[in-house]
Amino acid sequence: MSKLIIEGARRLKGEIKIQGAKNSILPILAASLVTRAECVIHNCPMISDVETTLKILRHLGCGIKFDGNTIIVNSENICKNNIPNLLMREMRSSIIFLGALISSVGSAEISLPGGCELGPRPIDMHIEGLRQLGLRINEGHGILKCSNEGGLEGCNISLSFPSVGATENLIIASVRARGTTVLSNIAREPEIMDLVGFLNSCGAKIESPGEGTLIIEGVKNLHGTEHTIIPDRIAAVTYMSAAAVTVGDLFLKNVIKDHIGAVIPVFEEAGCTVETDIKNSLRIIAPTRPYFNRMIRTMPYPGFPTDAQAPVMAMSCLADGTSVFVENIFSNRYKHVGELLRLGADIKVEGRVAVVEGVKRLSGTEVAAMDLRGAAALVVAGLGAEGITKISGLSHIDRGYENLENNLESVGASIKRV
Ligand code: UD1
Repeated sequence: MSKLIIEGARRLKGEIKIQGAKNSILPILAASLVTRAECVIHNCPMISDVETTLKILRHLGCGIKFDGNTIIVNSENICKNNIPNLLMREMRSSIIFLGALISSVGSAEISLPGGCELGPRPIDMHIEGLRQLGLRINEGHGILKCSNEGGLEGCNISLSFPSVGATENLIIASVRARGTTVLSNIAREPEIMDLVGFLNSCGAKIESPGEGTLIIEGVKNLHGTEHTIIPDRIAAVTYMSAAAVTVGDLFLKNVIKDHIGAVIPVFEEAGCTVETDIKNSLRIIAPTRPYFNRMIRTMPYPGFPTDAQAPVMAMSCLADGTSVFVENIFSNRYKHVGELLRLGADIKVEGRVAVVEGVKRLSGTEVAAMDLRGAAALVVAGLGAEGITKISGLSHIDRGYENLENNLESVGASIKRV
């Protein structure tokens, strides 16, 4: 079993290029099915969730080529409508293939998806919306058998909660539906607008008349395109947290500051200087010791992202002050807390609330990552801890971070995989 070995308490200084967004590339690769043509996608992060997605695309009959961080998908010759259970279980976002298969070949047979265990992650909103569009869905023994004989029909769908995945599934499913689909109370995450930009560049007709609504005029066919994935805002926040616990000075290239608008003030209040006037980049300079005495409530975008909760909590462990986290999106997203306690953190959890009392020092020990962002939190804590931290469960990190240890090593961290 491989482990990351971090010798902490070293100052990070230098430049890191932020990878393309995991949460954009996954739905966009799935949506490329609908084009039945060649799509050239730049700035793709080379992470294991992308590998899983490409395995699904290959299984369905797509041709895949690489050129550095560019992936070329050709979906002209799709020959299947089913996705093997093992691939579906590897990640939650595989559910996006439901809308994509329906829109591209008219039927789908898939099992229920996997992904990080963050509490129950139902797909009722996906199913309900797709049914409203006219999809026939038979569920049994964890398998969904779906068909759209006669095609999907545009309609008005209002989500009961702005689910990211349900929004993406419904957008992809409705781009070729007959007539007009109006989606309201949709998720507003930047990755949604990246998907919309991708589909429009393929010939879809999707308008965004205002916050939280999309109007989709169905078109007969889409065509191929060339698209560049937006930067990964959560990777950026992870490196910012790493800077904050190491008296760091990091220049992060490929950052869209508006995408982390709810997070930047948190670092500023902690005493970091965050320079955002540099085009597509950001510099963070940390104080000798951050000060953190605030409440963080995770919310749908543009609120504080749930994915940033764990790395920012790791930072708050080593700050002066008391902070309170309220996790409003997922019911079981504090698995990293037990591991942070092993490093010497002072955290109490009651339901969705975690109270962190900053401590003077963390000290390295063996810890285990249990989910993707929890893993990132352990890396941040390990970088700030004295002594050696050994992190197992690296498959979680590899799902979402490209070159994490090389990036950190290049700015002065002592981190290696053994
Ligand atoms: C996406 C992101 C994930 C992020 C999350 C919230 C990807 C690949 N993943 O996950 O990194 O943490 O958004 O920003 O983009 N829910 C239901 N019924 C549904 C759908 C969702 O009850 O049909 C609930 C979920 O259980 C959860 C909440 O709604 O409590 C938010 O889920 P959702 O926005 O759908 O997250 P994902 O798309 O799974």
